Amino acid sequence: MLKIVVLVSGGGTNLQAIIDSMKDGRITNAEITAVISNNAGAYALKRAEEAGIRALCISPKQFETRALFNEALLETIKDMTPDLIVLAGFMVVIPPEMIRAFPNKIINIHPSLIPAFCGTGYYGLRVHEAALARGVKISGATVHFVDEGTDTGPIILQKPVAVQEGDTPEVLQKRIMQEAEWQIMPKAIDLIAHGKVHVEDGKVRIDD
Ligand code: GRF
Repeated sequence: MLKIVVLVSGGGTNLQAIIDSMKDGRITNAEITAVISNNAGAYALKRAEEAGIRALCISPKQFETRALFNEALLETIKDMTPDLIVLAGFMVVIPPEMIRAFPNKIINIHPSLIPAFCGTGYYGLRVHEAALARGVKISGATVHFVDEGTDTGPIILQKPVAVQEGDTPEVLQKRIMQEAEWQIMPKAIDLIAHGKVHVEDGKVRIDD
């Protein structure tokens, strides 16, 4: 059974998609052991509690320095001995120590087709603003392993979503969440839970 820790900062709709997928059998052989937020007010924490999952907040505000926060976050997660760490809208830069402690065991969802509209500064609505400003006809979402770069780790799954006439960043964001993010994040977790995802030469190979 794959033990998962989910890190969140906000609404937690991706967390909800994972929880729902575990209930309806789209994800098997996996369980969420804890949900951690950097933000005490995150609605994602409520979603975890409602699902009977341990929910905790570790905020930078509780620590004198960023280094101490990073250390506390890492130690807390290490104590949980997860097999997989899922970043589901976690708005905190993951310290290199954590990436080294969990190589190819941290996954993230990014709301574009990487390598478009990703990297430093591309988060939240900014991703969709940039896509609309460029006039792309297709955007989408990507689930990838986290390495020491920003959105540079091996790509696990991607799903395209059509841009429509008159889209605002908010409308496009919502469509990408519904049609891509909430589908491919649970799918990626299920594939990992069944040992089907392999990283070779910096690329992901998925068993049939
Ligand atoms: C999503 O758009 C995700 O792609 C990005 O942060 C957002 C999280 O939303 N990384 P939610 O908290 O899962 O609702």
